[in-house]
Amino acid sequence: MQKKIRPRSQIYPFDESVSISHKSLNTNNTNNYQVWYYHIADSDYFEIISLTRLLPSDRTQYIIHNNETGGDLERLYIILKGNVTLQTPLGKYKLRKFDSIFCPDNLAHQFQNEGLEECLIGSIVLTKNSNIGFDDFIKYAINNRHEVHDDFEDCDYNNIADEPTIWEFNSIDPVLRTRSKSVGGSERFEWFVEPDELDSVSSTDIICLDPGKKIGFHTHMPEYEGQVEEIYWIFNEKAQLRTEYFDKNVNKYDLIFFPPGSSHQIYNCTLNTLWFGAWIGSDSTNSYKNTLGQDRTGYIEEYKRIIEARKRRGLPIPPETLSD
Ligand SMILES: [Fe+2]
Repeated sequence: MQKKIRPRSQIYPFDESVSISHKSLNTNNTNNYQVWYYHIADSDYFEIISLTRLLPSDRTQYIIHNNETGGDLERLYIILKGNVTLQTPLGKYKLRKFDSIFCPDNLAHQFQNEGLEECLIGSIVLTKNSNIGFDDFIKYAINNRHEVHDDFEDCDYNNIADEPTIWEFNSIDPVLRTRSKSVGGSERFEWFVEPDELDSVSSTDIICLDPGKKIGFHTHMPEYEGQVEEIYWIFNEKAQLRTEYFDKNVNKYDLIFFPPGSSHQIYNCTLNTLWFGAWIGSDSTNSYKNTLGQDRTGYIEEYKRIIEARKRRGLPIPPETLSD
């Protein structure tokens, strides 16, 4: 029998992210706002992830992506807490929890907290086609952001492209996923989007798991799906990651990176509803689609392989397999 060596998934704890203070463009210009950066060095797609906290009245610096600011990277934002206003030269947009945002190249953009509670904004920087690395990105973020501007009149924004694309969470019809029982999965709702605007992300997904529920054990197998990567971002206090190699608890805002071919399951080991985000990175030349509701090729055989690997390593065998 051919032996397959599958890579391990990798946890990037929030506690180990790099915390950097940026000057806020708030009305008094007195506050700094905090950004936490995660560096997924082994990823082809998701090299840089960030979490920005804006206190009431804070505004971020202006951000523009074009060839002068690091090359052809793509960036997807997601609102994780609070009511955020996105400001661009083309207008202002009100954003709410779990809305996702994409700003095309050359569109200056800035986030503002006009509410009374703190806001948290996640960003996923996709560097597949870019010559910028993590260190360059951080250097740029610290040193070369645009000078303090009170409004866009001072901003040099030639070649303004299209409007930002906003996927409003409340406008997405959640999909009830029911078909992964045979690999230990539970019924759950997912808010699933395939963003055509980005080359490097084939799907974004907000997933809700009731207490005790699980995602089925699965692997994005390169032999069937190509070089597909995935990240999970945990939005609750605690969850459990299970793989063929280990079971580990993960905590709020921890990231999990799944290199191509790494097995995974998330288990809601708490008494609260678990929310987390999942993003699939795949090359635009790859025809991979995260076909909701359809079984993956070879998924039962892969499930059995994962369970055998867990047995060999003395890991607990999920109860659903005991009755098989
Ligand atoms: Fe997955």
